[in-house]
Amino acid sequence: MRRRIAAGNWKMNMGLEASVELARKVKDFTGIHAHSVDIVVCPTFLSLARTAGELEGSGIAVGAQDCYHESQGAFTGEVNPELIRDAGGSYCIVGHSERRTLMHETDKEVNLKVKSLIGGCIVPIICVGETLAERQALDTMNVVRGQVMRAYAGIEPEAAARTVIAYEPVWAIGTGLNATAQDAQAVCRAIRDTVRYIYDDTTADSVRILYGGSVKADNISDLMSEKDIDGALVGGASLKAAEFGKIIQAIAGMIQ
Ligand code: 13P
Repeated sequence: MRRRIAAGNWKMNMGLEASVELARKVKDFTGIHAHSVDIVVCPTFLSLARTAGELEGSGIAVGAQDCYHESQGAFTGEVNPELIRDAGGSYCIVGHSERRTLMHETDKEVNLKVKSLIGGCIVPIICVGETLAERQALDTMNVVRGQVMRAYAGIEPEAAARTVIAYEPVWAIGTGLNATAQDAQAVCRAIRDTVRYIYDDTTADSVRILYGGSVKADNISDLMSEKDIDGALVGGASLKAAEFGKIIQAIAGMIQ
């Protein structure tokens, strides 16, 4: 049985005090569920350490939104997995579509980041997903399979089994449009089958696959009723403690 994940990507929002305050509310509202689901919040780098301090001992984990693959050295402006761990982080989002689009992040870079995160004992949350044009061209499965194959190049099955994949259709992010639960399930199933193709049944059945893209309290239950969806990566709705709390509760509530 895969343990479910409720992850909040705070993106470029929330200053230091606001991050600590939001973390405190998430802990107060939903800390009780931390024994049954993995709850993760991902603030900006600047707020990561203070947020992790606020959540220490709560069972709620903190993640970064990106990293650089090199170990320490002359890489101005970058942050590596070791520094994330040192600040209290235990997860890191990689390959988010906003980074792929705005910062031209490539599959090759995503792969390097995943490798360095595994080496630094940080759980990567690897984002994949198709654009609207790719969906309209009926290319979703090809695009997503390709992103998954390239993200895992050269990674051992035992390490791959502990990673997390987030299927985030680009057209659903921040738009209020979300994939139907059935559509999301079909792609998440294809992702799991791709992991099976690269590795084996054990790895495919261990990898946790999240859905992301306009997840809200009122659509999460449908998504969670699907077999291959193991949780959610939530953007906008994770900035409101009450709404995120309902999402966490729904994810926890679906556990038999
Ligand atoms: P929204 O939930 O705001 O659509 O963002 C999803 C996302 O990009 C999470 O990483």
